Amino acid sequence: MRIALITGAAGGLGLASARKLAEDGLTIAVADLHAEAAQRAAAALPGKGHIGLACNVMDEASVRAAFDTVEQKLGRVGVLACFAGILSTQPAPGRLPTVDITLEEWDGVMNVNARGTFLCVREMLRRCAGRTIEHGRIVTVASLAGQVGGMQSGAAYSASKGAVLALSKVAAREAASLGITVNTVAPGPIDTPMLHQTVPAGNEGQKYMGTAAVPLGRIGAPEEIAAAVSYLVSPGAGFVTGATLDVNGGMLMR
Ligand SMILES: NC(=O)c1ccc[n+]([C@@H]2O[C@H](COP(=O)([O-])OP(=O)(O)OC[C@H]3O[C@@H](n4cnc5c(N)ncnc54)[C@H](O)[C@@H]3O)[C@@H](O)[C@H]2O)c1
Repeated sequence: MRIALITGAAGGLGLASARKLAEDGLTIAVADLHAEAAQRAAAALPGKGHIGLACNVMDEASVRAAFDTVEQKLGRVGVLACFAGILSTQPAPGRLPTVDITLEEWDGVMNVNARGTFLCVREMLRRCAGRTIEHGRIVTVASLAGQVGGMQSGAAYSASKGAVLALSKVAAREAASLGITVNTVAPGPIDTPMLHQTVPAGNEGQKYMGTAAVPLGRIGAPEEIAAAVSYLVSPGAGFVTGATLDVNGGMLMR
């Protein structure tokens, strides 16, 4: 049985990916801020045996407790996908100019996106204690914003995703001897509540302000991120590590 712990999986891209990995036959631990929402999401996944649990990824003890719970209820975590993330500590900020970013905003975003990913990745590697995992997988989630200086998001979010990209490459080198690949999915604009937060006040009804800059001419669907995660987690992706998989409609080509 392959067990996948997915953070931020009660909604958005994490939930779509949980659904896809469940369809692929994995047993899923849905981790999110609120236990009830996580349990509801887990109960609705295809297949049996999935669980939902509370985890605040920026809290070291909470991350440790989440791994403990999964190990006790399901078994050893073989797949970790780090979707938990925030655009801002404010409800609907649009793009905050750097001069308007407070220290609270900077730390708040970095704490969830960068520190949260670090804590989860570190916990997964610590628990290996030198033991390999067959088809072990870590998938981190960055953003186009972390690669191109932000589009509809500002410095705190973009920098936090740059940190995720760098952390993932370091982890890929260190996890290789444990049989674990570490790769990053870097979404462009995808249709979730987070994307709608980038729309500034006065533009209600729009989901995204920059569709004209997307070569494929549309925003993406959560299932298109899930498909990328499914590939990276599959045994067939065993020779791919330290990679960034861009799923952005062609907004960044390289
Ligand atoms: N939607 C996009 O266009 C887009 C683009 C690029 C990157 N991303 C990234 O994809 C990931 C998922 O984004 P989404 O669009 O699904 O957002 P979302 O807001 O729809 O979902 C985020 C989930 O993370 C959870 N979460 C937030 N803080 C948490 C914490 N401290 N601990 C645990 N869970 C927490 C939320 O409860 C929510 O369920 C994020 O890391 C985001 O930065 C999204």
